[in-house]
Amino acid sequence: MIDIRCETLSNYTAIAEMNTLAFGQENEAKLVEKIRNSDRYISNLSLVAEVENVIVGHILFSYIDLVCEETLQVLGLAPLAVRPQFQRQGIGSALIKAGLEIAEAKEETIVIVLGHPHFYTRFGFQPSVVYEIESPFPVPEEFFMVKALQSYQKQYKGKVVYPAAFDEV
Ligand SMILES: CC(C)(COP(=O)(O)OP(=O)(O)OC[C@H]1O[C@@H](n2cnc3c(N)ncnc32)[C@H](O)[C@@H]1OP(=O)(O)O)[C@@H](O)C(=O)NCCC(=O)NCCS
Repeated sequence: MIDIRCETLSNYTAIAEMNTLAFGQENEAKLVEKIRNSDRYISNLSLVAEVENVIVGHILFSYIDLVCEETLQVLGLAPLAVRPQFQRQGIGSALIKAGLEIAEAKEETIVIVLGHPHFYTRFGFQPSVVYEIESPFPVPEEFFMVKALQSYQKQYKGKVVYPAAFDEV
């Protein structure tokens, strides 16, 4: 049985260890810490997946900027990690779905992710160019994706700018 819930302070070490294991480097664990310490952190959108009281997955959504005529805050999904022995069992998908439901309930507008289209398109993510949203990264356009939530409105177009916390990832 997988239990998905918000992170608590006592989970921070386990979350960092899990991110380091999943990514094979410490950058993402550091990113989580930097976001937590910034004004972009959203406590009820940092979720853990637990199996028998062990943290096996973590997802973080935080505010990033979409620069239109004005600068709007939208959700960035990063990072997402599942403990290696627990991958391909639906845990990553469950974390994404839980996060998207919370984002809908909070009446957020869009979620942005840099990731593999094979994985993210199944949750309704589409290349950002479909929404006239420009990536700050020199990546093929299908890797930079947007999921429009129910509160999405057409003026949400422009260039995405990530806060400084993301500089070293
Ligand atoms: C990517 C990741 C979060 C997916 O979580 P998961 O619980 O394994 O995913 P699910 O079981 O819900 O879904 C399976 C899908 O995940 C993707 N996936 C699973 N393991 C993967 C891996 N090692 N590398 C790349 N993609 C992987 C595949 O698209 C797979 O779909 P498929 O079975 O149709 O090929 C997880 O594999 C992981 O933590 N990888 C290392 C960290 C990482 O690369 N994170 C990137 C997030 S942008």
